[in-house]
Formats: sequence, structure tokens, C-alpha cells
Amino acid sequence: MKPYAKLKLPVEIKNKNFIPESVDLVQTPKWQYGFTNPRESLTEEAYEFFSDIFKGEVYVQIHCGGAGDTMPIHVDGRIRDGKMNCPRPWAVNYPWGSNVSGKMYWYKEKIATPELAGNFQVNATSAFKGYCPGWKLDEVEAYESTIVDTTTLINIIIPHNVINYDPINIRWALSIRPDVNQWEWDEAWQLFEPYFVE
Ligand SMILES: [Fe+2]
Repeated sequence: MKPYAKLKLPVEIKNKNFIPESVDLVQTPKWQYGFTNPRESLTEEAYEFFSDIFKGEVYVQIHCGGAGDTMPIHVDGRIRDGKMNCPRPWAVNYPWGSNVSGKMYWYKEKIATPELAGNFQVNATSAFKGYCPGWKLDEVEAYESTIVDTTTLINIIIPHNVINYDPINIRWALSIRPDVNQWEWDEAWQLFEPYFVE
């Protein structure tokens, strides 16, 4: 099973009136992110579509990758009491803004250690606020990648990052997730399978 699937959804995703620059972004050295009001960032039909699929509230992050920037390698979770906690193991991402699209990479750890927190090392460095844990490039090996230039279901509990190869333009993305998630990755795969394009 790939860590991603390209989707063709029957709805327009992004609200035309939504201004990404209006969102307060969490200040990280690279690749900032923030939290949007789903009713402002999504079209009404997209909000209804995802509420239906999620059987509950929709949660939408916004990601902002500067021209030429590389997102830190991370999983979408936090270490709490020595355990990795990933409340939402997957997301549906909708990118726009860069002419040369962002490429997403998934990585395997080169060195497995017996000291595991969830599936991952406790001692992985957390260099950037909001990206926890973080891996250095020499600690991991990329095994899968795809250009995320369309709505895409992505796995976010495997170490991953995105590189914006566009030398001029910011790469924006809405990252749509259930507010309260009840689906593991393989279940999310089934949930969205009717919409797969490849
Ligand atoms: Fe992520």
C-alpha cells in the first residue's frame, strides 16, 4: 500500500474568498503552518462533503512552504509521557500556489533502536516547534515520493516532508482532517477508495 493516493473529489475544495495570508501561522524556521476555520477555508460543498465522510467536525490546517524550502522530516504527532501520540494518522491535502509543484517524500529510519516510543525513537531530535520528532536527512532513507499537485490522501504517521522546488512562489496547502479521528491509515484508504484516480 502506497503512503498516498491521488483523489478526484466531486466538490470544489478551497473557498475563493479565503485569504491564506490572514491566518496566524505558527512561527517555525521553515514551512509554517496554522489553523483555519473550516467554514472559511473550504467551500460550503466541501465542508458538507467532508463532514459527511468524517461523520463529524472537520479540522483544517494551512501549510505555507517558502520558495525553494524543505519541510523538516517529521510525523504529525507529539511525544507525551515517552509515547508517540498521533491523533490523526492521515490527511487529505489540497495544494496551490507554486508553479513547480511540491514533492512529498516518505522515509524509513536507517537505524532502528530498541528504545521505541510508539513506532519511533524517543531520542529523535525535535529541532522545530510543531514538527516532532524531527529526523536529520542522514538518519533516514526516502523510499517513496510523489508530486502533490492535486487533492491527495496522505499518510502522516510515516516520517515525511515536502520540498517546494519552485524558486519564486510560496506553496500553500489546506490539510483536511477529521476533528476527532476514528480511522487508521488502511481504513482511511477504504474510505476514499471510490475517489482514487491512480
Ligand atoms: Fe506532516
